Amino acid sequence: MNALEEKLQQKDIDMFRDDLITWFEREQRILPWREDQDPYKVWVSEVMLQQTRVETVIPYFLRFVEQFPNVEALAEADEEKVLKAWEGLGYYSRVRNLQSAVKEVQQQYGGTVPSTEKEFGGLKGVGPYTKGAVLSIAYNKPIPAVDGNVMRVMSRILSIWDDIAKPKTRTIFEQAVHAFISKEKPSEFNQGLMELGAIICTPKSPSCLLCPVQKHCSAFAEGSERELPVKSKKKKPGIKTMAAVVLTDDQGNIYIHKRPSKGLLANLWEFPNVETQKGIKTERDQLVLFLENEMGINAEIDELQGVVEHVFTHLVWNISVFFGKVKQVSDGTRLKKVTKEQLEEFAFPVSHQKIWKMAVEAAE
Ligand code: ADE
Repeated sequence: MNALEEKLQQKDIDMFRDDLITWFEREQRILPWREDQDPYKVWVSEVMLQQTRVETVIPYFLRFVEQFPNVEALAEADEEKVLKAWEGLGYYSRVRNLQSAVKEVQQQYGGTVPSTEKEFGGLKGVGPYTKGAVLSIAYNKPIPAVDGNVMRVMSRILSIWDDIAKPKTRTIFEQAVHAFISKEKPSEFNQGLMELGAIICTPKSPSCLLCPVQKHCSAFAEGSERELPVKSKKKKPGIKTMAAVVLTDDQGNIYIHKRPSKGLLANLWEFPNVETQKGIKTERDQLVLFLENEMGINAEIDELQGVVEHVFTHLVWNISVFFGKVKQVSDGTRLKKVTKEQLEEFAFPVSHQKIWKMAVEAAE
């Protein structure tokens, strides 16, 4: 018997399950994606909830399902509109993958979200967590859905000291949840674990005295609930310094740039910008050269207006912001000219929304 199996042997699994599900049925929060079991909406919510908090997700979810109410609507939607609806949520590859997968559902499965692990799990962007979450919540399949919250809860229940920052640790927790999960009510069981992690078994100061499964919890018995889970620190993020410019012409048009279709923030729009180097040339000169050589634009750039910082998971952007007037545009420019009104239709990363805000405020 391995270590996990030994720990599982000591638990009253039936009782744990009942206590968790009874609590969930009584105490669950009213959330918009819990109003029905529409697999498409459950899927959208689970994709949004990866990396993003419930309170942030709610308004995005409501707008998204109003704009794209079903598989067909999202499959046929213009990517520009889909990115716009996601603007500000971050991790944009989530929504690009979601739309690719939904197109496949429309074409291969006649618009019905498949209910088997093989078919649903084979779709673009559907990893083990999304697969378990959607199939258990929408189709009542007893499949584990293990994310960081569930690992925190189960590490405490079973006193598991493996490092949850390591990708292979997840399989230990999947085995554990597999042993615990209810065959009758897998949806309530998985959501119960998520809910417990969100409102009781929180990272820093868990509310053990209110916990419905306290009597099953090894960490509570040992007094180790604040030490678990073990999570090694990530490397410090790298810093990238950049200069960006809000370029306008005499008619008040603005010049924007579409990011490449691959990589960070793919296909989003931005103000023209260049990574800057410390050295002989000023940031402003580097920007002027970049506009001339790479963007085919001759421009007059003002003094530095301010700095915008944006923190990603592994990277910090430090953007020096300039305003500029376009003097000459070559035919081959890679920038797009838009009016202020049109600008609102394009999806920008949060850092560039901040840059636009600086320009709007400066003009007021
Ligand atoms: N976090 C991940 N999935 C969730 C869900 N369905 N409800 C609440 N929080 C969640």
